[in-house]
Amino acid sequence: MLHKNLNPFPEHFLWGASTSAYQVEGAALEDGKGPSCQDVKEIPAGTADLSVSVDHYHHYKEDIALMAEMGFKSYRFSISWTRVLPNGTGEVNPKGIEFYNNLIDECLKYDIEPIVTMFHFDMPAALDERGSWSTHDSVDWFAEYARVLFENFGDRVKYWLTINEQNMLTLVGPVIGTLHVPEGTTNLTKEIYQQNHHQLVAQAKAMQLCHEMLPDAKIGPAPNISLVYPASSKPEDVIAAQNFNALRNWLYLDAYVFGEYNNLAWAYLEENDALPTVTDEDRAIMKAAKPDFIGFNYYNTATVEASDGSEVAGANGDQQSNQTFPGFAKSVDNPNLVKTEFGWEIDPIGFRATVREMYSRYRLPLLVTENGLGAYDTLTEDGKIHDNYRIEYLRQHIAQIQLAISDGVDMLGYNPWSAIDLISTHEGIRKRYGFIYVDRTDEEVGSLKRYRKDSFFWYKKVIATNGQDLSD
Ligand code: BG6
Repeated sequence: MLHKNLNPFPEHFLWGASTSAYQVEGAALEDGKGPSCQDVKEIPAGTADLSVSVDHYHHYKEDIALMAEMGFKSYRFSISWTRVLPNGTGEVNPKGIEFYNNLIDECLKYDIEPIVTMFHFDMPAALDERGSWSTHDSVDWFAEYARVLFENFGDRVKYWLTINEQNMLTLVGPVIGTLHVPEGTTNLTKEIYQQNHHQLVAQAKAMQLCHEMLPDAKIGPAPNISLVYPASSKPEDVIAAQNFNALRNWLYLDAYVFGEYNNLAWAYLEENDALPTVTDEDRAIMKAAKPDFIGFNYYNTATVEASDGSEVAGANGDQQSNQTFPGFAKSVDNPNLVKTEFGWEIDPIGFRATVREMYSRYRLPLLVTENGLGAYDTLTEDGKIHDNYRIEYLRQHIAQIQLAISDGVDMLGYNPWSAIDLISTHEGIRKRYGFIYVDRTDEEVGSLKRYRKDSFFWYKKVIATNGQDLSD
């Protein structure tokens, strides 16, 4: 469908952008913050250390003023669990509460809606030592943390996101540096899917608690969802695409929305002795939780063909890409798509296809919590960043959202990655995503001075016209 007359973006569409605490804040051990798994992990050679990041902790006023200048209606950021609870449980850090109070109030000063992610890849180091998501106790730890957040910030925060990209943690956790995969094993084990299961129960408990404590707030998950294409019209490839869609996407969304495991994913886990132990109480908690919307990150689609079982299991080297599961689905490149400088396929039409599919399956409003282009940017001598490639990427994706809206999909907002340059999960700050450039490199912290990129001015116009003017 081409739509002769496009429907406009809704009046209160949440135009904004995203960050996550450990990638942007810095001040890793300042003002009483405890270490997270990100602070104690080995930094890959050549990537920036996270203790300063881009120092949003000390620059938040300046950063939010820049977001307000772009006209942001929303800012999605995550709360660092260990800034609030240095040991993960127990004692609350008043300085941590104060920081997020200030951050939230600063947003509200400019009528920017704070969208708060509760967990974004930064498990408290103290809880890591106690077994992290491997132990069922993690469900209660997360509920305790959720309660602290709702008590302290629930009077002002109306949009909550539980766990960022739980599916990526499970599928490629070690790339992100956060999930425990016992040495010599793959990601397809009972151990991994038990950790995954505890996250499903934990986020369900947090959703229930949110509805009890904050009846006016809205809460949803934030997985990374992208449609999986069959490499050809061969029926075997279609089955492979269904398989990988189930394991990558529907396992998560079926659990979040219906409180049930997806049958295809379950059957595959069973076949591979990777089924988690699920108690009756877990099932009841999962069933009782109801998200108000689906937050999701979209970067690209995946393409698979039938696997004869002889391939080697594994990912293509980055956290978003296809994966091969012998006997289930084999990852291939999509020859119809171009790639970013960092090797990620670019597929704006796949964005529309993904939201159409999600909406028809779940019928919940959709909030884009990430989307964006990681690229090498250059600061010119006169302080400019000509990132026309980023503008092009965003323009094409926003155009597809409007088509999806015209298809009848209920879209709540668009919060691309990232509001400001920050440290990539495993490729340093040389891989930049922001509308705002930060003067630092992987080798040197630099002046940390902020600069407006060309995309900054472009996005400002997009927001001012509520998505009607996408031109340069
Ligand atoms: C998402 C994560 O997977 O993609 C972000 O939620 C991450 O934390 C973003 O930074 C981009 O990925 P990367 O690997 O380029 O940093």
